[in-house]
Amino acid sequence: MLTLTEQSIYTGNLILVNEHHGLQREPEDLLVPVRDRIPEILLQRCAATLLNELMQEIHGWRSIVPVSGYRPLAEQQRIWDDSLLENGPAFTRKYVALPGHSEHQTGLAIDLGLKQENIDFIRPDFPYTGICQTFRKKAAKYGFILRYPSGKERVTGIGHEPWHFRYVGTPHAEIMEQNDLTLEEYIEFVKQFPYGCNTYSVRNGSRKIRISYLSAREVFSVEFPDDLPCTVSGNNTDGFIITEWEEI
Ligand code: DAL
Ligand code: ZN
Repeated sequence: MLTLTEQSIYTGNLILVNEHHGLQREPEDLLVPVRDRIPEILLQRCAATLLNELMQEIHGWRSIVPVSGYRPLAEQQRIWDDSLLENGPAFTRKYVALPGHSEHQTGLAIDLGLKQENIDFIRPDFPYTGICQTFRKKAAKYGFILRYPSGKERVTGIGHEPWHFRYVGTPHAEIMEQNDLTLEEYIEFVKQFPYGCNTYSVRNGSRKIRISYLSAREVFSVEFPDDLPCTVSGNNTDGFIITEWEEI
């Protein structure tokens, strides 16, 4: 039996943080350095682990550097203020999330840059070629999405950012990629599958994964079958996304 409190809406790998939905709770999971040699760039442990696994597969750290990971509110505020002065309001609104509304505050987002002498902190170079593109192609398999794609600026409220990746976990990242859905769109998509009535199912090797939505208005205490591995994430708006794995 899992008891969900109202606060549970605001935590988990699938929380939607954007201009309309601010971060409600500081990350609970341990923040760890993405790379030992760069102790100031932190991510939640799970995101850091999966990022390193991906990098290991492609030998990515030879040519890619982490530029910005977890940011406390005060840091996001400083970046916002500095950018307003240096770049003006139009640029800042396009490329810097409002303080309190940045995914970087979740510890689940990372900006990556191609290793070179001068790296732009707000807009690092992360081209659609070479090792950066190899990273992008593998990202979903490890649970990461390109969070601010070209053509979806109206949906995300942020300009195209080829360098910003958000950990949402698998199989969600793969579903979003295959269906060309941003996190905003995926949160809405999952609402078609109310928990207990209908599920969105995908196959992953020998497992069937079922995804569904539980409205916070309906229930805060749910009994999940003991023998079915299951994770629950809040969506940071109005409910939960339930992911169940079944061996078949
Ligand atoms: N650059 C992204 C939108 C942020 O500031 O969180
Ligand atoms: Zn970013």
